[in-house]
Formats: sequence, C-alpha cells, structure tokens
Amino acid sequence: MGDSKKSNVTLKRSLTDAMQEALNAQILMEARSSYSYLAAASWCEKEGYEHSAQYLYTHANEEREHMLKIFRYVNEAGGHAIAPSITNLKYKYDSLRQVFEHILEHEISVTHAINELVDSSFSLKDFATFQFLQWFVTEQREEEKLSRRAVEIFDIIGEKGQGLWLIDKEIGRLDQLAHGGGAK
Ligand code: FEO
Repeated sequence: MGDSKKSNVTLKRSLTDAMQEALNAQILMEARSSYSYLAAASWCEKEGYEHSAQYLYTHANEEREHMLKIFRYVNEAGGHAIAPSITNLKYKYDSLRQVFEHILEHEISVTHAINELVDSSFSLKDFATFQFLQWFVTEQREEEKLSRRAVEIFDIIGEKGQGLWLIDKEIGRLDQLAHGGGAK
C-alpha cells in the first residue's frame, strides 16, 4: 500500500527539527570561526607577525575540527548537516592588538551560543545532544582563557619599542602552553 511505502522511506530519528536547526547554526558559527582565524592569520603573516600567524593558522584548523565534529554528529543522528557558506569576513585590522581583541569577543560569543545550545537540548529532553555538547563547554572555557591571555600580553609587555616583537613571540608561546600543558 502507498502509506506503508511512504513510512519505509521516512527517516526515524530522535533528533528534532529544532535541534537540527540549532546544530546547523553552530556548524555555520564554527566554520565562520575557522575562516576568521584564517583571515587574521593572513593579515598577521603579511604584517610580519610570524608567531601570531602560526597561532592563528593552528586555531583555524581547530575550529574546522569543531565544525566537523558537529557536522558528523548531526548526520549520525539521522539528520542533515548543511555545509556552510561563509561571507563578510574581516580581512584587515588596524593593529595586532585589534586582532586579538576581536578574537576574544568572538570566542565569548561562541561560548554564549554553546550555552544556548546546551539549554535547548535540555529543554527538548535531547540528552544525547546534551551529553555531546559537554565537550564544547569545556573546550570553550579553554579557548576563552587562551584568548583572554593573548589580550593581557599586550598590557603586560606594552607595545612601545620592541614591545610588539616580544608580544608576537609570547603569543606564539601561548600555543605551546595550550598543547604542551596536557589540557587538550
Ligand atoms: Fe569552536 Fe572557538 O569556537
């Protein structure tokens, strides 16, 4: 019968449309993070801030991994992950400090977005997604800490004289701290 045929091709899943939409929005946000880091890395490299550029290239890759993690989760849950399209990136900065202030603001907005997702998953009683998102909660705490530290380096060292040269070097060392400290 027509009706039973129809039910055979209907995907059965516990992931709700609302949760799928929210996760796809986060996929877009993580992809935007990745490309924002990449654009910032390019500006730094062009301006001769090699260590900062390296830090940002590494983080561009990490953000892409975050995106893929959610992307695969959505599809494995029987949903449809949407490959994001990124526009309106910031390609130019007034200073190295502005790069890292911009990144800190962005990471804080990502933390808020993750918190909203966690809240939605709980409200929808989607405990699989709730559990999946815990990794991102921890990760954002680390990312925010690192971004805040980067901005603090400007205040500690000061930008005058050889300051910017030293700041660039210290930002390069932040990555070693993050990856060598066993936090990830
Ligand atoms: Fe994956 Fe830093 O947001």
